[in-house]
Amino acid sequence: MKLTVNGREHSLEAEAEMPLLWALRDILDIKGPKFGCGVGLCGACTVIIDGEAIRSCQTAVGDVEGPVLTIEGLAGSELHPVQQAWLEEQVAQCGYCQAGQIMNAVALLQTNPSPGDDEIDAAMADNLCRCGTYPRIRAAIHKAAAKLAGV
Ligand code: FES
Ligand code: FES
Repeated sequence: MKLTVNGREHSLEAEAEMPLLWALRDILDIKGPKFGCGVGLCGACTVIIDGEAIRSCQTAVGDVEGPVLTIEGLAGSELHPVQQAWLEEQVAQCGYCQAGQIMNAVALLQTNPSPGDDEIDAAMADNLCRCGTYPRIRAAIHKAAAKLAGV
């Protein structure tokens, strides 16, 4: 089957019901999306398909229709504003959840360019962080929203 990831088309031999997360990590060696819970509860595996944040552990690779964006494909010649804000706010602690957090935040800002605290908390609620970086995540999303708005 064919799978476009980060702008590159791949041909892979995989069972259609294989979780996308397995295909990304184990076949294509794209390690940004992480295995956390494997059952759709933690968000560590979050990638973007057609602008929507999805749980790659809960998505069969055979069901993927649009191009997949992972953290590896986010930066152009410069970091994406969300990544830049993450650095400036020093969000990451152990880092394990952070690729999923960033992809979820990117998708949030695409649909809501100027979210309030409550909207951020609601949108990010299913992305768990054992290190408790939630206040910094919120601050970084506000900062990224301002950067994207050119403020
Ligand atoms: S690994 Fe997919 S939601 Fe936890
Ligand atoms: S930074 Fe450690 S789990 Fe989130």
